[in-house]
Amino acid sequence: GRARDAWTLADVPDLSGRTAVVTGASRGIGAATAEHLARGGAYVILACSSPAEACAAEGALRARVPSARVVGVGCDLARLDQVRAAAEHITALAEGRVDMLVNNAGVAALPFTLSVDGHEMHFAVNHLGHFALTGHLLPALLNASEPRVVNVTSVLHWLGRRPSHRARPPARRYHRWTAYFDSKLANLLFTYGLAAWASDRGLPLRAVAAHPGLADTTLGSSALDADGRHLEARLLRRLQARWHSPAEAAWPLVRAATDPRVANGEFLGPGGRWEWSGTPVRVRAARRARDVQAVERLWRQSQQLTGHPFPSHPLRPPWEGAF
Ligand SMILES: NC(=O)c1ccc[n+]([C@@H]2O[C@H](COP(=O)([O-])OP(=O)(O)OC[C@H]3O[C@@H](n4cnc5c(N)ncnc54)[C@H](OP(=O)(O)O)[C@@H]3O)[C@@H](O)[C@H]2O)c1
Repeated sequence: GRARDAWTLADVPDLSGRTAVVTGASRGIGAATAEHLARGGAYVILACSSPAEACAAEGALRARVPSARVVGVGCDLARLDQVRAAAEHITALAEGRVDMLVNNAGVAALPFTLSVDGHEMHFAVNHLGHFALTGHLLPALLNASEPRVVNVTSVLHWLGRRPSHRARPPARRYHRWTAYFDSKLANLLFTYGLAAWASDRGLPLRAVAAHPGLADTTLGSSALDADGRHLEARLLRRLQARWHSPAEAAWPLVRAATDPRVANGEFLGPGGRWEWSGTPVRVRAARRARDVQAVERLWRQSQQLTGHPFPSHPLRPPWEGAF
């Protein structure tokens, strides 16, 4: 791929006739991504944390883009049974074909919490729910001629170490930010695992990672407020507010989902200083994110925890030598 050249929203191709699914589409970067894709003419399915959120998101997007073909679906990523049901619902709404899946939803800085399935919450929502959703949507994705899965990570993946569903005390010391960093590392490991899975089988599916830089959203701050850590919440909000809007932060996600020149296994982020803002370009992933054993370990573990939605296979690393 040649994703180093300048790119703007004007480069979004005509998306009419194509179907996109965006998770976490109720607000922030996910809502902005859904709006850009809808303006491009795509039919957009807004996967939200509840049916009420889905309904509100659908109304809000329609109010902003009256011509939008859009529908909201409840999909709580912290409940694997709901994810499976939502995938069926989405497949039906999409008439069996999904061209783009943007795995954007995320939580950050939560106090130690377990999902209903018993997994650490950052791992559960940010990674495992998306792994399951992608697996359950595979038949619909493979019905598209050039399907793409975009996993949304963060520059903070550089601080991730070893993602695990068991990041719980006393087995492991828990910290609300390291749990987030680990989950964002998992988003990249999953991208490379999926890229290998697809290329091993000669499938046209492209797995692409994207990060938005730093944007002014509710990510993290609501959890911090609820937890009474007002200073940390204020600091986070001030830092986010200095950088770009969700609408701009969505650009790398939109490019990853739509630019025909973006190849399987690529990683896009804002091209400005420290990748905090700027137009989307190809960016580097931490070495730890490209570690074959870590990719395999997470793939195996996620397969087990979600009931093996992906047919088993040996993994080869097509991303090696890409940088
Ligand atoms: N903002 C930044 O500076 C920044 C930087 C790097 C990476 N990112 C990444 O960008 C992505 C979007 O974050 P954002 O900044 O736009 O945050 P946000 O405004 O807080 O939005 C997060 C979205 O995720 C959804 N979500 C949370 N838990 C969910 C669940 N259990 N099931 C389904 N959906 C759930 C939320 O829905 P509800 O509100 O209904 O719960 C919301 O729509 C995340 O993956 C984040 O890691 C953000």
